[in-house]
Amino acid sequence: MDKFVIEGGRALKGQVRCAGSKNSVLPILAASLLTDEPLSVPNAPQLADVEAMLDLLRDLGASAVRDSSGGVTAHCASLPNSRASWNQVRRMRGSVAVLGPLLARTGLAVVSQPGGCVIGVRPIDLHLKGMRALGASVRSEHGYIVAEAPKGGLVGASIYLGGSAGSSVLGTGNVIMAATLARGTTVIHGAACEPEVVDLCECLIAMGAKIRGHGSPKIEITGVERLHGTTFRVIPDRIEAGTYLLAGAMTGGAVRVQGCQPDHLAVVLERMLEAGFEHRVGPDWIETLPAKRDRSGAFQVRPTEVTTLTYPGFPTDLQAQWMAAMTQAQGMSLITETIYPDRYMHVAELMRLGANIRRQGTSSIVMGPGVLSGAQVMASDLRASAALVLAGLVAHGTTEVHRVYHIDRGYENIEARLEALGAVIRRTDDPQDNPAEQQLLPAAPDRATLTPPASKPRAARADDSTLRPAALARGRAVTRVRTPRAR
Ligand code: EPU
Repeated sequence: MDKFVIEGGRALKGQVRCAGSKNSVLPILAASLLTDEPLSVPNAPQLADVEAMLDLLRDLGASAVRDSSGGVTAHCASLPNSRASWNQVRRMRGSVAVLGPLLARTGLAVVSQPGGCVIGVRPIDLHLKGMRALGASVRSEHGYIVAEAPKGGLVGASIYLGGSAGSSVLGTGNVIMAATLARGTTVIHGAACEPEVVDLCECLIAMGAKIRGHGSPKIEITGVERLHGTTFRVIPDRIEAGTYLLAGAMTGGAVRVQGCQPDHLAVVLERMLEAGFEHRVGPDWIETLPAKRDRSGAFQVRPTEVTTLTYPGFPTDLQAQWMAAMTQAQGMSLITETIYPDRYMHVAELMRLGANIRRQGTSSIVMGPGVLSGAQVMASDLRASAALVLAGLVAHGTTEVHRVYHIDRGYENIEARLEALGAVIRRTDDPQDNPAEQQLLPAAPDRATLTPPASKPRAARADDSTLRPAALARGRAVTRVRTPRAR
């Protein structure tokens, strides 16, 4: 396994370009199963999770390739096979997005139950409720969901899809995808309003679907006979953008995130102002302003209260990174997690770096300012890893973040991007990572699978480092046998 070694204490400066959204591209690639024509995403990010989705599509009978310019094309010319195996689904929880498309296209979906993960229990009852409402019979058998469409196919219906924690992003996406090929009209009440759901709908519309109301809690889908292929650019990744902005802000630096969509981050920008993280916003960029420092070189960060909510509320996927930033505030910050009440694996690790944090139920109190000092810390999930990297950037001395395969699932080449902003960070093999303990973990993503599977491995080029993991860019063989828990 790899680790990051970070020398903290440098204000970041420069420009970073936002990649395509992970949480948009995953269901959009699943939507390729709805048509016998190719679906291309020219700006699909180079992430372990995207490769996991491409592998799953191949397993289902589609061709799925990444071209030399980085775009991906998925093509399911004949009927896919209907079974998404545990081996595939356990690699990534987002695999459940194939449920709706498989059911709509073939009339049968057999999809492994994703199970829980480190950030919480994560049920899929709302997905199943939606499929049942469209007329499917759904049962659970030997760890698999078996969903069968009625004779004549799925039938449009009026469905309330809200759950106890609000709407479901992938649940809404799954029902929308299933409804695109159903007979008649489906109305989803309590739909998720996240930009990634809107993006999925825009892609489906480009494929010939009839959808209205996306972006609001009421979405109407009128089924069509067939969908066709398209080429679709996904929205920029708002969580990646937010993470780099916080890196700039909490190091007191000037970081411009280029190619992002500022309105997707409205609540985060508002909270940043409250905290005293000043910034400028352009049509497709946001830039943190250098902090005004006192004579001792310190700058003031104000404490804040943040509650994670469904969009347009504060995103749960930035909660951990925000907590890292609040370790620098002068006073007590309150963070409440309403989407995944147990998404606090980063707390203990931030405390190893010297943060003073107390967890109380679904809230955490961060008592700042913490003088963080470098230490060995363990990444537990994607966003927790990002928080540890941010904390390492402001900690005195050397921080080692172990098990960074988690971060490769959602951040394209983060170390090279941070390095370009002036951070001192390097990826290195982690011989200390206890092999006995690794036996307990589900299988790790093979970073070698980030290469296009159709083509032969080629010699690494210097410019690969911007597109591909450092290990591959260095041209050395990479062998990975374990995968992290599904998210
Ligand atoms: N929920 C239910 N029943 C369901 C589905 C969800 O009760 O059937 C609950 C969940 O337990 C949770 C809440 O509803 O409390 C929201 O979960 P949601 O279904 O919206 O999550 P998701 O669609 O599985 C996506 C992202 C997550 C992100 C959440 C919330 C993808 C691939 N994943 O998951 O992203 O945290 O929405 O915004 O789109 C990440 O990128 O790090 C990540 C975890």
